[in-house]
Amino acid sequence: MPENILIAVAWPYANAEIHVGNMTGSHLPGDIVARYHRLKGNHVLMITGTDAHGTPVTLAADRAGKPVEEVYQSYHEGFIELFQKIGISYDLYTTTHSANHFKVSQTIFLALQKNGFLFRKTEPQWFSPGLNRFLPDRYVEGTCYICGAEDARSDQCDNCGNVLDPTKLVNPRSKVEGDASSPELRETEHYYIDLSKLEPRVVEYLKERAGHMRDTVLGESLRKIEAEGLKPRAITRDIDWGIPVPVSEAGWETKKLYVWFEAVIGYLSAPIEWAQIAGRKDAWREWWTNPRAKQFHFIGKDNIFFHACLWPAELMGVGSGFMEIFAGEKIPLTLPYDVPANQFMNLEEMKISGSRNWAVWGRDVLKQYDPDAVRYYLTVNMPEAKDSDWNWAEFVARNNNELVATWGNLANRVLSFCYKHWDGRTPDVDLSALRGTDRELLAVIEDGFNTVGAELEAARLRSALGEAMKLATAVNVYLDVNAPWSAVKTDKDGAAKTIYTALRAIDSLKVLFAPFLPFTCERLHKFLGYETSLFGEQYTETVSDSLGDHLVLRYRAPEPDTPRWKPSELKPGQKLNQPAPLFKKLDPVVAEEERAKLGT
Ligand code: MF3
Ligand code: ZN
Repeated sequence: MPENILIAVAWPYANAEIHVGNMTGSHLPGDIVARYHRLKGNHVLMITGTDAHGTPVTLAADRAGKPVEEVYQSYHEGFIELFQKIGISYDLYTTTHSANHFKVSQTIFLALQKNGFLFRKTEPQWFSPGLNRFLPDRYVEGTCYICGAEDARSDQCDNCGNVLDPTKLVNPRSKVEGDASSPELRETEHYYIDLSKLEPRVVEYLKERAGHMRDTVLGESLRKIEAEGLKPRAITRDIDWGIPVPVSEAGWETKKLYVWFEAVIGYLSAPIEWAQIAGRKDAWREWWTNPRAKQFHFIGKDNIFFHACLWPAELMGVGSGFMEIFAGEKIPLTLPYDVPANQFMNLEEMKISGSRNWAVWGRDVLKQYDPDAVRYYLTVNMPEAKDSDWNWAEFVARNNNELVATWGNLANRVLSFCYKHWDGRTPDVDLSALRGTDRELLAVIEDGFNTVGAELEAARLRSALGEAMKLATAVNVYLDVNAPWSAVKTDKDGAAKTIYTALRAIDSLKVLFAPFLPFTCERLHKFLGYETSLFGEQYTETVSDSLGDHLVLRYRAPEPDTPRWKPSELKPGQKLNQPAPLFKKLDPVVAEEERAKLGT
């Protein structure tokens, strides 16, 4: 029975370009797992989009001196270009600035309200006397009252990672350009979600997942709840840009839903939008009203609280209320299955920083290097258990010594040799005449579908790729022992068996490597003579609604879309296509050149 797998990736803010740390933190691991499940024949829906609202985005627009809508659009389009180039195969990459997302978010708000989880309260917030407006979240910085860092934002401290109570910030400063006035606290009314009522259920939910959730995620979430408890949180803000609060009373027109409250709702709204665009209006339910569906959230460690605590709590508070308002049926929504959060990737031993230009931007790196070379390095270096480091010399070395030497050369050497000596066909061997060593190799490779698959299923991608690489090494060893290059002159029959066996192993490795290296595996698939495709295509489309136009990225499944996660059945005598090298060797000098660009 195919499983329904929702691959949900954190929504990137439209306030900065995406760098390699963001890629390896969430988008790439999400894509690898999505591609694996597609190859297995599971029903995958991979979604996210641009996080368009909130003070991160309005502040970026202020800094650029441009309208927020224009700044948000331009980042959004850049993200889509990047994901297409590096092959992050979203079934739908959309935005929170869509009429659909507005409606779904407001419906969740109403369901929570109806179920008694919202209340209104007047509380002091930072206000700029100079500008005569409130200064929510990132508009105020100051000293963190927990760790003492001097540049904490009012809602979150990057130094200690804590979510903060804005009013407790020490020495507050306004972040608005040219605003010299000192922020002061003024009363304002907002909606709050009463998370305290949901605390026992969130704790129980987390504990139920102890078997498969990473210790980093579970530990951090439970520790936090134990230390501070789940407290009510404001879910509206005094800000112009965002989603209107769905109440008709006077005074609420100037307020908007809090960005974190609504952005997580994108995990529900994006599948709904996807189903509408695909012309299968109810298809999103396969992942959302199906209790057996598995939802995975690929995120960075700074987002753990919001995904492992806040979002499940919102969903628990909603219960069957969303479906009741949305579709007139009382059905509960599915809760996330796993939140495989990653740690951070540094760059040459320093924290990545856009303002200091200490960064490797996604779109830049792809101008110079092939997508699979970048994907390879980002996977072997993925910060799964602890922070990792992008090091240019290591990028070159691992490309040359592993990707090219162990895997690329293996595929190219065997294919070219076969193409030349067997007239562009796989050797026409009698399968029952294969030797013991041939069968042993094929058995080892066959077993790889279980070992690599188990690692992928658990979202341990470094180890999954390492297992596949070990199998490539086993094929190299087999070739060293059987030396077909010389045997072809003395024992063509034996050489034929060796080459056929090696090609069949390579054909299997092509599938095992495909989630990680989709572009080159697709080429290899063609070299091996297949007319089908391993994966489908990515393409963009413009969606129009009452808010205007927004670009979306989509994925079209290949035809025919059959399960492929299984050992090769390569036919003897199958016609091949002219092979070519899959990867490029890099000159070590590029490491020096790239390093020299940093920080300038
Ligand atoms: N925009 C946030 C960030 O970049 C992530 C939002 S994830 C969501 O940290 F689920 F809230 F959308
Ligand atoms: Zn702090």
